[in-house]
Amino acid sequence: MYTEKVMDHFRNPRNVGEIEKADGVGEVGNAKCGDIMKIYLKINDNHIIEDVKFQTFGCGSAIASSSMATELIMGKSVNDAVELTNKAVIEALGGLPPVKVHCSVLAEQAIKAALYDYAQKKNIQIKGLEDFNPNADEDFHDHVHGEE
Ligand code: FES
Repeated sequence: MYTEKVMDHFRNPRNVGEIEKADGVGEVGNAKCGDIMKIYLKINDNHIIEDVKFQTFGCGSAIASSSMATELIMGKSVNDAVELTNKAVIEALGGLPPVKVHCSVLAEQAIKAALYDYAQKKNIQIKGLEDFNPNADEDFHDHVHGEE
């Protein structure tokens, strides 16, 4: 059911952890399954992603997706990174079962949220994020806050 690549990234996830004083941080969640993903970016003055780390509290596919997504954007410019789609993550993993597609969407969204955070802090525009809504997962956050 799961490809070798998915199992590999699930068992040995790359780039796990957090970056202190990250230039961009994005956190997203899926209200249905309750999984949470956080992405940290270290970005240099040329807008190149020098380092990326993730923390995922979620299913195996979410862990594999975030691990693969961090590898795919490492060393890329923010303009290239913003183009990463969940489809590209799935392809790089050699496929995901249909019920697990949303796990890869979480990875795409977490990266976009981190890039959005970076753009806000630097007061720059990143093409492709014009319509990005950082509060798209508001229901999720309300849900979390409601339980605090
Ligand atoms: Fe929700 Fe995988 S089951 S992220």
